[in-house]
Amino acid sequence: MIAREWQQLDIPKIAELEKLCFSDPWTGQAFESGMNSPFFYGILFEEAGQVCAYACETVLFEDAEILNVAVAPSFRRRGLGKALLLALEEYAKKQGAERLLLEVREGNVSARGLYDSFGFSAFGVRKNYYEDGENAVVMQKII
Ligand SMILES: CC(C)(COP(=O)(O)OP(=O)(O)OC[C@H]1O[C@@H](n2cnc3c(N)ncnc32)[C@H](O)[C@@H]1OP(=O)(O)O)[C@@H](O)C(=O)NCCC(=O)NCCS
Repeated sequence: MIAREWQQLDIPKIAELEKLCFSDPWTGQAFESGMNSPFFYGILFEEAGQVCAYACETVLFEDAEILNVAVAPSFRRRGLGKALLLALEEYAKKQGAERLLLEVREGNVSARGLYDSFGFSAFGVRKNYYEDGENAVVMQKII
């Protein structure tokens, strides 16, 4: 398995995996416009030409905002989620960021477990944040 930065050519595979992992997936177009930002960074894990996991963030001065983290169902609980977060943190640090920020669905037990284990702490709740009315928990990690 290799880790590497995203390229435009990866977007169709990333968007496929996104559909498998989220009830409200980003479209390929959304990924493409995200990638056009000079502040964007995306990392993925690939095996035999297949994208198994990916994550992305924007790094703007002291804040790095994590936009997306996903691991294909058959690759979960093997440390890939943590490895993605580590790659995002290392890149953000290199850019001079001082904290990582993210929003997560209140009921997303696996993602909250991952973020807790990676040193994030909750500091706010956005009520009815998602289209289906679920709250978002806002989390941060000082790096
Ligand atoms: C959340 C997600 C990225 C975790 O990826 P992963 O590769 O399975 O995570 P890791 O193997 O690195 O897990 C690291 C730690 O996170 C926690 N964790 C991961 N999955 C968990 C679960 N289902 N329940 C509770 N804790 C969990 C554990 O502490 C785990 O350590 P352990 O395996 O030693 O107990 C994955 O479940 C996923 O893609 N979910 C769907 C997409 C999603 O919800 N993304 C987050 C959006 S905010």
